[in-house]
Amino acid sequence: MAGSSWQRTHRIGALSEANVGEQVVLNGWVAKRRNMGGIYFLDVRDRFGLAQVVLTGSEERLGWSMDEGAILAPEDVLSIVGKVQKREQPNPDLPTGQIEVIATKVEVLSRSTLPPFEIERDSDANVELRLRYRYLDLRRPDMQEKMAFRSRFIGAMRNAFLARDFLEIETPILTRATPEGARDYLVPSRVHKDHFYALPQSPQIFKQILMVAGMDRYFQVARCFRDEDLRADRQPEFTQLDMEMSFVEEENIFETWEGVLVDTFRAAMGIELPATFPRLTWHEAMERYGIDKPDTRFGMELVNLSDWASTSGFGVFENAVAGGGRVMAICVPGGGTSYSRGAMKNLEKRAKESGAAGLAWWKPGETGGGAGPVAKFFEGAVGESLLQAVGGSQGDLVLFAAGPRALCWRVLGEMRLAIGREQGLAKPGAWNFLWVTHFPMFEWSEEEGRYFSAHHPFTAPQDWELGGDPAEMASRAYDLVLNGWELGSGSVRIHRRDVQRRVFDLLGITPEEQQAKFAFLLEALSFGAPPHAGFAVGLDRLVALCKGLDSIRDVVAFPKTLAAVDLMCQAPSTVTDQQLADVHIQLRQDS
Ligand code: AMO
Ligand code: AMP
Repeated sequence: MAGSSWQRTHRIGALSEANVGEQVVLNGWVAKRRNMGGIYFLDVRDRFGLAQVVLTGSEERLGWSMDEGAILAPEDVLSIVGKVQKREQPNPDLPTGQIEVIATKVEVLSRSTLPPFEIERDSDANVELRLRYRYLDLRRPDMQEKMAFRSRFIGAMRNAFLARDFLEIETPILTRATPEGARDYLVPSRVHKDHFYALPQSPQIFKQILMVAGMDRYFQVARCFRDEDLRADRQPEFTQLDMEMSFVEEENIFETWEGVLVDTFRAAMGIELPATFPRLTWHEAMERYGIDKPDTRFGMELVNLSDWASTSGFGVFENAVAGGGRVMAICVPGGGTSYSRGAMKNLEKRAKESGAAGLAWWKPGETGGGAGPVAKFFEGAVGESLLQAVGGSQGDLVLFAAGPRALCWRVLGEMRLAIGREQGLAKPGAWNFLWVTHFPMFEWSEEEGRYFSAHHPFTAPQDWELGGDPAEMASRAYDLVLNGWELGSGSVRIHRRDVQRRVFDLLGITPEEQQAKFAFLLEALSFGAPPHAGFAVGLDRLVALCKGLDSIRDVVAFPKTLAAVDLMCQAPSTVTDQQLADVHIQLRQDS
């Protein structure tokens, strides 16, 4: 069907030499214009690309007049009728660089006032300005590509789940609190005075209830809401690819996701991922990398030197081991020359910031000894055995942490990452996916004097009997890690009502509270709940990583600032007295 005369016949970015000689109608924005003495060269842009348009001849013939103040300005929206011709001086940097369009008619469809920043691929405008005028920021080719990539990626993932017989099912946004560890966003009810909905932190309980409902194999592109401190990798609302399966265990979830990610990377990026990803237990990850989301693109693993240290002759080390702690180290290859004394001071400062009492270091010498505050303890055979234990050689740098196990992990885990970054150790272009399994069941909170779920309270324990010390219990929770980022989490769930009750008890949730908050779940579990397990990936994080970006804000169309503000529409905002009265809310004057 033919459109109106102003409507495009071709997408600008799709024009090529194949169109030479054709009459075309183009719709797009003025990107740049150059006046070459009576001849105008315009760069005109649409979502698909940019092409050069040439305006020559009388203005009248073109349907516009400079005298009337109709000079075209950046970001004006045009309809251009013209003829495609081969360019005398092709532009090899532009996909349409072989051609240009000689305009015969120009119609201004919409005018633009002067934009606050130039709409270019690389904008140096400050972030606040870009967020305030997000629609202009999104018009930049760079952002258009990111949004298109996100759409393509999510589409490919959706196809991968549908191809595996998953059902896409939506769960409510106005709901009850689901405990995922953050604060809830609350929505007051007008009809029910003093009652509130909570926005979901995830569809967790609903997806489990879908399994009880027999909807084996559910997935959803799910929006989640969490009122928590924001960082580069956290937004108050974000998107998960959320899924759940019945009659499965850990390995079935891993296999499903490996298949889905292989399919998605192939379809959206043309990248061939390995068919399976390595697995590490949480304990192994902590011992080798000091962190539960290891970046395995480089080595420099932690070494436990406690046995060696207990007879090292260095008081700090011996005391740490005698006091029930340990001594651990990392060996920085070539660090003996690349880290000066000044650089060592910085490393030590950083270690102290993460809670270490100090950061002993050693640059091994030719015949034992060497340089560093503890070198004098490492002369001769002691030094030799140490070097062997850390797998190092002369020219390397060895860093030590002594103290409780968790402190050694944290300090050296952070040190390893910081040095890896500084030295550019991560292999570029690597996609190191990794499953981390057997997370602890509980974490102790000193502040509140009670246990919290390490994942969430619906996670199954390794031992259904829940015997022994809660601090030592391993869970059936697992994470998917990519290049040192936590991409997603999941677990085998508790499908037994008695076990769910006991876990609530261990978490210090009273029977009354259990009844008030989770009665519907406990009831559902009593009506034939199948064994089930699931997983959710943070899509914003995954898409950002695929594009090599540090901040998820760059792949979210309308993100919020670190203060959780939408600078464009100015949310959150105050509301009228009437709106407050409708929902039975009176604002306190004292806060
Ligand atoms: P979890 O809370 O670990 O698990 O969340 C899963 C993944 O969601 C992403 N994510 C976020 N992304 C951006 N901004 C945030 N504020 C944010 N918070 C989390 C992360 C994270 O790994 N219901 C469980 C999943 C399950 O057990 O199936 C859950 O939500 O990439
Ligand atoms: P000191 O004997 O306290 O002067 O410390 C000697 C060296 O050991 C200094 O480089 C300290 O930074 C380091 N050091 C002290 N305590 C620790 C610790 N707990 N872990 C690692 N290094 C330490």
